[in-house]
Amino acid sequence: MIQIQLSNITLVLGAKRIFENLNWEIQRGQRIGLVGANGAGKSSLFKLIEGEHSPELGGSITRARLVTTGYLPQQPELDSSLTAFAAALAGNPRVAEVHAELEQIESSLSDPKIYGDGRKLQRALERQHQLIEEYHSLGGDSYPARVRDLLLGLGLAESEFDKPLSVLSGGQKKTGRVGAAVACPPRHIVAR
Ligand SMILES: Nc1ncnc2c1ncn2[C@@H]1O[C@H](COP(=O)(O)OP(=O)(O)OP(=O)(O)O)[C@@H](O)[C@H]1O
Ligand SMILES: [Mg+2]
Repeated sequence: MIQIQLSNITLVLGAKRIFENLNWEIQRGQRIGLVGANGAGKSSLFKLIEGEHSPELGGSITRARLVTTGYLPQQPELDSSLTAFAAALAGNPRVAEVHAELEQIESSLSDPKIYGDGRKLQRALERQHQLIEEYHSLGGDSYPARVRDLLLGLGLAESEFDKPLSVLSGGQKKTGRVGAAVACPPRHIVAR
């Protein structure tokens, strides 16, 4: 089953044509190592998938329903006032976004303007159902515990979790970012 498909992609950056009529598909369960010379376009390919770069007219990028992507930048920009644990959790902001929208919908269900209006109530319940599905597919409730285990597994001591990144070493900072990317569920792409 195809998870992500790139069709007829041409990417031009500045004066350089990085890809021309590129076709690629990622199947469910595949693990892919992308190898190429420096400057060949590996990071650009991931930026295309993430929507950071746009293809020329005529190309398209499609993904299966509920497929999300995670991306570990080659040179991560980190907010150094965050603690290591908070930075690692922020590696998958979609979990927090879905959680916040779910809370908002739950509180709206007790609003007479919503529960007193059949159509609005129906819409709210459908959205709630979609969000619950997405939250489960992201590993919602177990996400903080998974991030914690991964940080420990990658060698960051628990005593370092609550320290701001500004006082951690370069290697310890990287551990935080790697932990966040790896903690994404298996369907996520982790790239450099
Ligand atoms: N925003 C940009 N504007 C113009 N040119 C760019 C831009 N981003 C990348 N490039 C150029 O596009 C080409 C591909 O860059 P990219 O970063 O995708 O390479 P890469 O395969 O990831 O290299 P590396 O192995 O060094 O990480 C390079 O020649 C680079 O200079
Ligand atoms: Mg690169």
